[in-house]
Amino acid sequence: MEKLDGKALSQEWRGGLKTRVEQWVAKGGPVPCLAVVLVGDDPASQVYVSHKIKACAQAGIRSIEERLPGSVTQDELLAKVNNLNRDPEVNGILVQLPLPSHIDEAAVVDQIDPLKDADGLCTENLGLLAAGRMRVAPCTPHGVIHLLKKHQIEMAGANAVVVGRSQIVGKPMALLLLQENATVTICHSKTKNLGQHLAQADIVVVAAGRPEFLGAGDFPKNCVIVDVGIHRKDNGKLCGDVRFAEVAETARAVSPVPGGVGPMTIAMLLENTMQLTMLQNPGVTP
Ligand SMILES: NC(=O)c1ccc[n+]([C@@H]2O[C@H](COP(=O)([O-])OP(=O)(O)OC[C@H]3O[C@@H](n4cnc5c(N)ncnc54)[C@H](OP(=O)(O)O)[C@@H]3O)[C@@H](O)[C@H]2O)c1
Repeated sequence: MEKLDGKALSQEWRGGLKTRVEQWVAKGGPVPCLAVVLVGDDPASQVYVSHKIKACAQAGIRSIEERLPGSVTQDELLAKVNNLNRDPEVNGILVQLPLPSHIDEAAVVDQIDPLKDADGLCTENLGLLAAGRMRVAPCTPHGVIHLLKKHQIEMAGANAVVVGRSQIVGKPMALLLLQENATVTICHSKTKNLGQHLAQADIVVVAAGRPEFLGAGDFPKNCVIVDVGIHRKDNGKLCGDVRFAEVAETARAVSPVPGGVGPMTIAMLLENTMQLTMLQNPGVTP
């Protein structure tokens, strides 16, 4: 079994990006700047944000952290996003999800200027992706594509099954795989016979948000499995949606949790910030 090592690829990507940022700044481009908005005190979100801020610093990207209390109103949050939209020093904006239940998440994401949408999740950018004219791709699915490419997993013509249809992962994942000429099936909680679909798969991307719910018996032999899920077990350890030890015996390649898709998400966030900075400064030649 080949391990789809997102940690290694992420480090490599971030190293390359650091060099590109230095070259960009040397040519007169502004230091890219990412604003991260964190609402409330969810411990997992705090950890994710601190990783993102640290990764920015390592790549030479400036970051601004905006912390708001969990009691913030929708209007206050929209106003904060608007201020960042108007700030000429800010090139990318990320609102850490999930948001508290009294906030309309889609409305907040859509308030972000599409040219500053570092997560690639606003309706305009998802629409461009669906139309085959991608501007910035959602970080997690884009990270998966790069992980598959790095390991020379053939996507063209492959039967790819995506388990999950969320706006953040499943749907854009399916669109990106389609763009790579895979034959794509999307499964979700109402899918009648998940096993039947999985049995035909060459590549499966699992993003169901259910700890270790799929094991070796669910996948055909020599399948490539990308596990997007991330959960903290009672013993404090992290796990994915797939029982790694089991599938490691039968799969062709598997992404581990941790060390698979998670680090790639961060690398793609930095990449998007750089891409948006370049789009906003067409006068500077990279
Ligand atoms: N590594 C990273 O960087 C990263 C980034 C984002 C998310 N994640 C993780 O990835 C997982 C998924 O995230 P998400 O935001 O996409 O979750 P989500 O919004 O909860 O969506 C889960 C999807 O899985 C489907 N589903 C649930 N149970 C299923 C079942 N038994 N069979 C088939 N489909 C099923 C749901 O179907 P319905 O639509 O019918 O409800 C839904 O479409 C979570 O564990 C999350 O923490 C990781």
